[in-house]
Amino acid sequence: MEPADKFAASLSLLAPHADGGLDGGDDNSDEVWIDVIQKMDGIYADLLTSQVQLEDKNEELEEAHQFIDSILSSMTDVLVVCDLDCNIKQVNAALVSLTGRDKDDLLKRQFGDLVHESDVAGYHRFCDSILDHRELADFELSLTDANARAVPLSFNCSWMRDRRNRVVGLVIIGRSVGELKAAYSKLDKAHQSLRETQQQLIFTEKMAALGRLVAGVAHELNNPISFISGNAYVLKRYGQVLTQYIDALESRADLSDLQDTRERLKVDKVLHDLGSLIEGTVEGVERVSDIVHDLKRFSSKQSEPKSEFDLVPVVNTASNWVIRSAKVKPKLFHNVEGPVLAIALKGYVHQIVVNLIQNSVDILDTVEDGEIHIGYRRENGFICVEVRDNGPGIDEDILPHIFEPFFTTKPIGKGTGLGLSVSFNMAEELGGKLLCANRAERGALFTLMIPMKEEG
Ligand SMILES: Nc1ncnc2c1ncn2[C@@H]1O[C@H](COP(=O)(O)OP(=O)(O)O)[C@@H](O)[C@H]1O
Ligand SMILES: [Mg+2]
Repeated sequence: MEPADKFAASLSLLAPHADGGLDGGDDNSDEVWIDVIQKMDGIYADLLTSQVQLEDKNEELEEAHQFIDSILSSMTDVLVVCDLDCNIKQVNAALVSLTGRDKDDLLKRQFGDLVHESDVAGYHRFCDSILDHRELADFELSLTDANARAVPLSFNCSWMRDRRNRVVGLVIIGRSVGELKAAYSKLDKAHQSLRETQQQLIFTEKMAALGRLVAGVAHELNNPISFISGNAYVLKRYGQVLTQYIDALESRADLSDLQDTRERLKVDKVLHDLGSLIEGTVEGVERVSDIVHDLKRFSSKQSEPKSEFDLVPVVNTASNWVIRSAKVKPKLFHNVEGPVLAIALKGYVHQIVVNLIQNSVDILDTVEDGEIHIGYRRENGFICVEVRDNGPGIDEDILPHIFEPFFTTKPIGKGTGLGLSVSFNMAEELGGKLLCANRAERGALFTLMIPMKEEG
């Protein structure tokens, strides 16, 4: 029984005696009084309990209010709660400060009153969506700030429902587009700088590799240059012979004399050799220019577009550069028949192969009869370039770390720990993969997977 009902019941207990008079001499009346007093005591105790409960509830309510208020006022996003006619029912401190109106003023207005006059069309679109009962996300609308300027905000709008799940209003949350844009641009800048750092890293590794390769490249260049210079020397001599012969012609000696001179000067041999000498020289010059081109591509920062090309000469040049600059030269086996076409960037393939061969050369430094084998196979739309050596292989406990940047087991000055990490990223950029494993026999096996041209 509720305390109020109990109170009413005890009053009705008193009533018959009040009608009939309560005389003190009656035995019965004492009992009635005691009963009444006990009942009153009970009611009083119940009232007290109710009072305490009520106060507790009040306190909880107050705390809930304060909690909600503190959330609302610490929100940096703007909050507007409206009924279905867009009459404002609740706002937060961020909206008060943005509009420069006080809370009581805002609570008398409609949401539309806050929209800047330049964005009436946007507000109408917003109203249409509400009428269509669509929840809105990321719509932009400009509100009027305290100085009557338009402030673009990005809004999310969701339905507010009562206990019976009926839609009774809208909860609209807005964030300054400027802030969002600033956050995006900050993110963009961070991304950009990360990319630049990565590019720098690739470049640093390239330069380090280039330093190690200089001897090999010089050797490559020496070869064609030596036969260009040899040819030029012979050509110079031949030039002298031809000049002498022409001089003889011009001195109008008789024909038998001329024949003697021709034989003495070996003019026929000169004429015969001339073609191949010039051809050889041109070939030598082309070879030098190819090497310089490879060198430029290897050291330059610009990236060429992806294209389909034969991997074999690129892999060949890269591996020869490394082997020729190595102090201890392992045997290189690179036997392949015909071209191996893949879609990639020549510069990337070159750099990855240089890194892989360099690592094998480094590890084979102390191995007798070191061998490096390069092979190719096709697998699921990829060309797999396999580089394997007969070194000690990679310790199982460091195997999971070798693609991490700056991971190296080499002494300072010998290893940067960047070769494999940079190569791994380049392989991914090519749409391929770089994998490593230990061979059952002995040594390490690296597999570079590069996309092939799609069939058809
Ligand atoms: N063929 C290989 N055999 C054994 N260990 C290898 C081989 N290739 C790479 N490694 C290991 O991976 C590490 C990381 O290689 P890398 O990223 O090229 O950096 P760095 O060559 O500068 O050390 C090497 O220090 C070495 O311990
Ligand atoms: Mg390396």
